[in-house]
Order: sequence, then structure tokens, then C-alpha cells
Amino acid sequence: MSTKTFYITTPIYYVNDKPHIGHAYTSVAADVLARFKRLDGYKTLFLTGTDEHGQKIARAASDAGISAQDFCNQVSQTFKDLNTHLAICPDDFIRTTEDRHKKAAQALWKRMMDKGFIYKGSYAGWYSVRDEAYYAEDELINGKAPTGADVTWLEEESYFFALSKFQEPLLTFYKTHTNFIKPEGRRNEVIKFVESGLRDLSISRSTFNWGVDVPGDEKHVMYVWVDALTNYITALGFPENTEQLKDLWPTSLHLIGKDILRFHAIYWPAFLMAADLAPPHRIFAHGWWTSEGQKISKSLGNTIDPLELVQEFGQDAVRYFLMREVPFGQDGNFARAAFTQRYNSDLANDLGNLSQRVLSFVQKNANAQVPTAGTFLAVDTDILSKASQMIYALRDHADAIAPHRMLEEIWHLISLSNRYVDEQAPWSLRKTDTDRMNTVLYVLLEVLRSIGLYVQPFLPDASQKLLDMLGVENTHRTFATQCPLTTGQLLPVPQGLFPRLTFPLDPLKA
Ligand code: MSP
Repeated sequence: MSTKTFYITTPIYYVNDKPHIGHAYTSVAADVLARFKRLDGYKTLFLTGTDEHGQKIARAASDAGISAQDFCNQVSQTFKDLNTHLAICPDDFIRTTEDRHKKAAQALWKRMMDKGFIYKGSYAGWYSVRDEAYYAEDELINGKAPTGADVTWLEEESYFFALSKFQEPLLTFYKTHTNFIKPEGRRNEVIKFVESGLRDLSISRSTFNWGVDVPGDEKHVMYVWVDALTNYITALGFPENTEQLKDLWPTSLHLIGKDILRFHAIYWPAFLMAADLAPPHRIFAHGWWTSEGQKISKSLGNTIDPLELVQEFGQDAVRYFLMREVPFGQDGNFARAAFTQRYNSDLANDLGNLSQRVLSFVQKNANAQVPTAGTFLAVDTDILSKASQMIYALRDHADAIAPHRMLEEIWHLISLSNRYVDEQAPWSLRKTDTDRMNTVLYVLLEVLRSIGLYVQPFLPDASQKLLDMLGVENTHRTFATQCPLTTGQLLPVPQGLFPRLTFPLDPLKA
């Protein structure tokens, strides 16, 4: 039984609109890390889902002319479909309209109330439905939220959370848990904000009812962020399943976009502290994508539909581009030209060619079998050990939430391998020294096997094809169960992994 655990989450996505590239981004990153950890022997829980309450969703449903629940059912399904199309495989998909979640949110509320951190009062201030966030007067810019969203004046009876009492405990927590918020720049932002003072937070609404009922006062529904953040412990079976919490909560990692950092790094740990629960282990905020250099927005009509990209380029290519193009944590730009360029150079040329040239050569010149290796030269042991030792660097990059670095490492090995093919020139050895040719081919097949293992989290489809073509048993595909290729094993006729794209793809879009 494995004792290493890993619990990773994405934000739960609002169902007011269909999935876009920003949603696909966090989910792919979480899926990559979850797959890596599973392959590395961790007991892993990968959670994602949909955030279905609040005024924004209630309005979207009423605009669509259907009941809020029917509306949520429909849109939530489109997020599940996105996962299927992008090979995103969560262990659990949570919906905040589920009973298990309502129970958990109410249990958390009760605990915070019993500990004296919730009180009734009345709220007067600005609220943005688009952001589902409260803003102070001095935060507004030209009468709008700092995000550019419209705000409206609210005056209503409300329950409050005593956030101000958590200023010092939070600052102490950030200081003693230096890895809690990453990247570093985001951590500094949060600390500065908390140091500037925290006001108590209005956490209930009584002017609409699409939310989780406040226990004991059904005139109120919970503020959607109290409800939403609880999802991370609902999925662990809170409040009944204390074992799961003990088992997985200590390794929790919330991947989020930088826009929702305040909710995760300030409100969430404060709610948990108020309920005598430990804050999450780590929060990593990634950057935002622009589209062809412009902010992505519905009104500009430049949203990027991940499903269209998958149809055009395939799931692996989309996953690869998202993880490779931008250092995780920084903002990035989505450009079709960059996408096709990366596809052709990294996938079709570097990886696709390497596998095709090696495997078809073996097919034709080594009886379609894994050849017997002779004596290894320094060049051989050098590349073989680079391949086997790479797992250590990959682990470090995975722990630093740097999937782009993992890909850089793997692609470095791919280019070393292509150079090795050119320098060792097995086509010449075929005429002069077949023993050496066999050794070279064996080395190449072994390195390809490592590459096939390492790209599994990123390219679930191509990696399986590659490992199949190398004759690697399904049971030998984890980092612990892998083993060298068997000499003499017959290999199937190879097929291309990534067909080259020809330009222009679609003259209207190019
Ligand atoms: N429902 C809340 C999260 C609650 S978590 C307890 C929410 N949902 S959202 O659907 O609006 O956003 C989900 C994620 O998408 C956020 O992490 C946000 O950063 C991300 N993105 C939205 N647009 C994006 C880009 N253009 N680029 C990258 N990520 C973006 O917030």
C-alpha cells in the first residue's frame, strides 16, 4: 500500500457560460500533475467540477428561459464533455448543487458560527455580480470594479464573517508557510493586501434564493464563495469522513488563476481556521491567456473554443501547446501561428520523426525485433543514463509546479536522441558493422521507451501509441514498474504519431 498522497484541485467553474481556453488550461495542468503523481506511485485525488450557485448563474438561467437547476445540468455537462475531449481524467467531479455539497457547506458554516466567527448585521456597499465579489469604495476605478466589471449598490440584512480577526493569524501563517502561495510574486501581493487591513465579510444574501440555505435562517442563502470554496473538503467527505481529511488534506494543492487568489489565499484559510481545520497545503496561481495579443472577451468575439482546437489538431497537441508555450505562472498569448509552429517543430519533427525513423529502420533492418546490444560505448551509456536519470529532474519540476520545465527536459532528450541518430548513422553501420548497428538501435529504442514513459502525463494518446509500438506491456508503464525492453521481442509496424500540418490551414483563420 502506498503511503504517498497527492490531492490536486482546479477551481470549480461557473456554469454561466460554456468552457473556454482558460478553463481548459487549469484542468490540463491539474491532469498532467495528477497523471505524473499516479505514475510515480502516489495515491492521488484529482478534483474538478462546477460552481452552480449565485446571482450570476440565476440570471444566466433566467435569460435562457429555463429553471436554474436545468440550466446548471446542461452547462455542467459541457464541462464534463470538455474533460472527455481533452483526456482530462478527474477522480471526482463535484457540482455545488449536489446534496453532499450542501451538507458540507452547512456543516462548515455551523462550525464557524459555533466558534463565534459569524454574526448578523446589515451590509451596505458595492457588489459585482460578474465577479461575485464585494468591493470597498476606495477599490473602485471610475465607478467600476478593478476588474472592469459593473458594480451595484447593495443594502441588505446579512450575516458576516469576522475576517478582521484573522489578519494576524493569516500573516503568521504566511510567514511560517513560505510555500503556501506560489509563485513568489503572488505571495507578496497577498501579504501586502492583508497587511493593509481586513474588513469583516458579508457572507449571506437575502434578495435572491439560488444558493445553499443558511442553517437555521432560510431567508438567507450563503454568499457563493463560502459555498464554492467548501467544495475542496466536500469531496473528501467532510464532515463525516475525517479519515480522508487526515489522509489527503495535508497534501492539498489548489491550482487557480491569478484573478481568484484573494478568495483562495485569504478567505479560504480564514474560514478553515475559524472552523478549527488546517488551511490547504499550497495554492498556485497561474497567469492569463490573451488571444492573438488581445484580452479574451465575449464582447470582442475572440474567445477560443478548446473543442474546436481539439477537432482541428487533436487532444495531445492542445495539451502540449498549453503546457509548453507559457511558463506556468506567467501570462501568455495564444496565437494560431505559434500553435502550428510548435506542432510542426516539436511534435511532428522532433518527437514524431525520431520515433518514425528509429522504428521503421528497426522494422526493415533488424527483423522488426528489439535487437541484441553489444558493448556500449561512452556515447551510449551517456544518453542511456540521461534518459533514466531524468526522472529526478521531472519530479523536482512537478513539485515546483513547472510543467513547462518538465517538457523542456524531455524535449532536450529528444533532440539529443535525434543528434545521436545522425552521428551514429545506423544506415551506414548496416553495411559495415551490424553488431554496432544493433547496439545503436537498442540504445535508441531504450531511450524512446523512457521518452514514451515521461510524455504519458502530457500526451496520453501518442504516448500509448509509442509504448505499444515499442512492445511495452501495460503493466510496465509506471515509473516503479518500468523495465528494459526484451531482446528479440517482435515490434508492430510503426505508425506516425503527429502528421505534419501544411500551411495555410484555414485561410480564414490563419
Ligand atoms: N467559480 C469560480 C471559482 C470557484 S473555486 C472555489 C470561478 N470560476 S470561473 O469559471 O470564472 O473561472 C475559473 C478559472 O478560469 C479561474 O481560475 C480563472 O483564472 C480561469 N480563467 C478565466 N479566463 C482565463 C484566461 N483568459 N486565461 C487563463 N485562465 C483564465 O472563478
